[in-house]
Parts: sequence; C-alpha cells; structure tokens
Amino acid sequence: MRKLLIAGNWKMNHAVAATVDFCRDLRSLGLEGQRAEVLLFPPFTSIAAMVSLLQGTPVHVGGQNLHQESKGAYTGEISAAMLKEAGCSHVLIGHSERRQYFHESDAGVNAKTRKALEYGLTPVICIGETLEEREKGVTNAVIKTQLSGALEGFAPDAVRKTVIAYEPVWAIGTGLTATPEQAQEVHRYIRKFLAEIAGDDCAELLRILYGGSAKPDNAEELLSETDIDGLLIGGASLKADDFYRIIEIADTINK
Ligand code: 13P
Repeated sequence: MRKLLIAGNWKMNHAVAATVDFCRDLRSLGLEGQRAEVLLFPPFTSIAAMVSLLQGTPVHVGGQNLHQESKGAYTGEISAAMLKEAGCSHVLIGHSERRQYFHESDAGVNAKTRKALEYGLTPVICIGETLEEREKGVTNAVIKTQLSGALEGFAPDAVRKTVIAYEPVWAIGTGLTATPEQAQEVHRYIRKFLAEIAGDDCAELLRILYGGSAKPDNAEELLSETDIDGLLIGGASLKADDFYRIIEIADTINK
C-alpha cells in the first residue's frame, strides 16, 4: 500500500516572519501520529527557519527548484548540496510555473532529476497539460512526452525514488479542480506508463500526487481515488489550519 503524501507548495509566499507564524500554528494543531506523510516547499529564504521550527516533527521540507550543475558561476541559482545542507529532503522539479515563465524543458527536468538523486534528494516531478491541450484531446500524449523526457535513461531503481505530481495547468490557482474522475483517469494512465518504462513493481510503489485547486472541501473525494496518492497544494497550504485539515482528511481515507 502507498502511504499518502500531503505536500504544500508555497511558491513565492511567506517570508521568514510568516513562516514562523505558520510553523507555530501547525505545531499547536498537533503533528504526532499522522498516517500521511507531510511535506512543505517554502521559498529558499524560509527553509532554514522552517527546518529549525519543525525539528522533531515528521514534516519534511523541500526546495522549489534546483540547478542541474553541482556548483559554479550560475548567478541566482541554488544547488542540490545547498538544499541538502539546509535540511531539505525533497525538491520540486518542472513545476508548470517554471516551465511557463522560466522556459524549463523536459531535458532540463531530466538533468535536474538526475542531480537531485545524486545528492539524495527526492525529486517531485511535476507534469500536466494546458487547457488548450486538454480541449484538443492530447492530454495523454502530453503526459507521456513530459514523463518520458523527465525519466529518460533512468533505471527502475532510480525511477522508484521519485514522486510524480500531476497538475493540470488549467486547474492551478484558478479554483477549477479536475473532477476526481478526470484526475483518476490521468493518474491511471501515468501509472500504466510508468509500468511500461520501469516495470509493474516500480509503478505500484510510486506515489502520484494531484495538484490544482486542492483544498479541504475536495480533498476527500480526490484522495479516495485509487491512483491518487496525495496532494500538492498551493493556496490552501498557506494557512496552517487549512493545511492541517487536509492532513486530517487524508488520515480518514482507507483504500
Ligand atoms: P493551487 O492549489 O493554488 O491551485 O496550486 C497548485 C500548485 O501549483 C501546487 O504546486
């Protein structure tokens, strides 16, 4: 059985002062004994504060991006070693906002995934179609291209160490959520494709998260779907009580 993973992507929100408040609130709600795994992606400058404030809790902390080289003259970039040293265990790779505004390609996602694995960071690889692609009926083709590009050349052992996040671009920050059926259909396709490239065992173990306007009100129906193994939450992860509510909901799911 796959353990549910509830992850929050803060994007460019919550500097240190807001991070301190959030962590204090989250701790006061109680972080013991949850069945779901919990993960947060704060902005880089808030990582150290979060790691220290959530020390002793089971919450994992991740970076929102990394550079594909180990170090060097890449002004403005951050390395896998830096994230690791700051206390990160995970890193987001290929978020649609990175693809859209910073022109990240599948080849870049592949190189970053390789670097993350080299440094023992768990890559959370984001994929998803635009509204135009969905309306054209090419969702599966887009998913297949992104996934095969991201994982090309990886042995099943390496694929096994990743997490996939399906985030339909049209559902991000729009209040439009994919219906649980729409999400499940794509998640099933992703798992089937993973089985083709890395084998059934790997595909069965890998967690596939859904992201795109996930919130307390829709968490239960999304998480009840067979192939939805967690959520990657933007807006609703910024408030400790909303995020905590989703963790609580995850703990009620039996499948
Ligand atoms: P929202 O939950 O705000 O739609 O954002 C989703 C997302 O992009 C998480 O990575």
